[in-house]
Amino acid sequence: KAHKPLKVMISGAPASGKGTQCELIVKNHDLVHVSAGDLLRAEVAAGTENGKRAKEYMTKGELVPNEIIVNMVKERLNQPDAQQKGWLLDGYPRSKSQADAIEATGLRPDVFILLEVPDDVLIDRVVGRRLDPVAGKIYHLKFSPPETKEIADRLTQRFDDTEYQQPALYQCIHTLVWSELGLCTVSARHGPQFLFLWFVAGQVEWHYTLPQAKLRLQTHSQNVDAVLAIYNDILRRIDGNRPKEDVFWDINDVLLELSDDSVKAGFFP
Ligand code: AP5
Repeated sequence: KAHKPLKVMISGAPASGKGTQCELIVKNHDLVHVSAGDLLRAEVAAGTENGKRAKEYMTKGELVPNEIIVNMVKERLNQPDAQQKGWLLDGYPRSKSQADAIEATGLRPDVFILLEVPDDVLIDRVVGRRLDPVAGKIYHLKFSPPETKEIADRLTQRFDDTEYQQPALYQCIHTLVWSELGLCTVSARHGPQFLFLWFVAGQVEWHYTLPQAKLRLQTHSQNVDAVLAIYNDILRRIDGNRPKEDVFWDINDVLLELSDDSVKAGFFP
């Protein structure tokens, strides 16, 4: 058995549920969540030179260059909280060169978790994904809708889910329709004419989000085998095409197998 602190890598195609599972893992295991995508989005939001460069690649669904991401991840993993509590690394490494770079520093995980989800389901998930900017929680319009109208009204989309192909018309429809209708309360509150508008908005949204999601899937499938080859001996494949709670319980079993008994067992938020 590995000794604490536990070191975990979680991987999978775009929208396979890495971020969703990391939220649940962190609530149950006292690990420091390090997300390569979140580190990059923080740079983009801060408007740094690295952030500006990274955004060009992210909107195209491509990997950002190693000179931007590799040191960012290494430095975060070497910080005292991650060293003391253990870490949960999400979205890194995504290429052989990134895996080699982290192996060279001696940062090897105890387990490499791969979430497996079919491509058509992944596309559906990207199109419907929304974020709550206040709580930082991930939602899905169909699969994991927000609990209240207040949360629904403040949901946003990630720029790399939409920005590449979106025309101004899309933005207008999106803002008007989604904010007015408040998601799932459509028919009850507004009647059939709004239901029609809601359907049209969904179709427009699908049309403009699809190409971008496909590019990200393509980037993932070009690189994944080379990364898996490096972690083959510690690889655990998890079927991610099930309700998020079921996926989590399987991951939880894997982590409990590897942990000391000081890890809380059986708690689910
Ligand atoms: P990153 O932020 O890592 O994005 P990603 O890999 O595309 O993954 P996502 O965050 O899109 O999806 P996820 O797997 O976290 O799924 P989620 O839980 O949100 O990277 C973004 C970009 O940054 C990359 O494209 C690249 O340009 C750059 N980048 C990042 N790391 C890099 C690196 N190492 N090197 C170079 N460049 C890098 O779930 C998705 C949706 O599905 C949600 O709406 C959720 O509610 C729903 N959902 C989740 N689980 C379930 C379930 N079980 N059932 C139904 N719905 C579910």
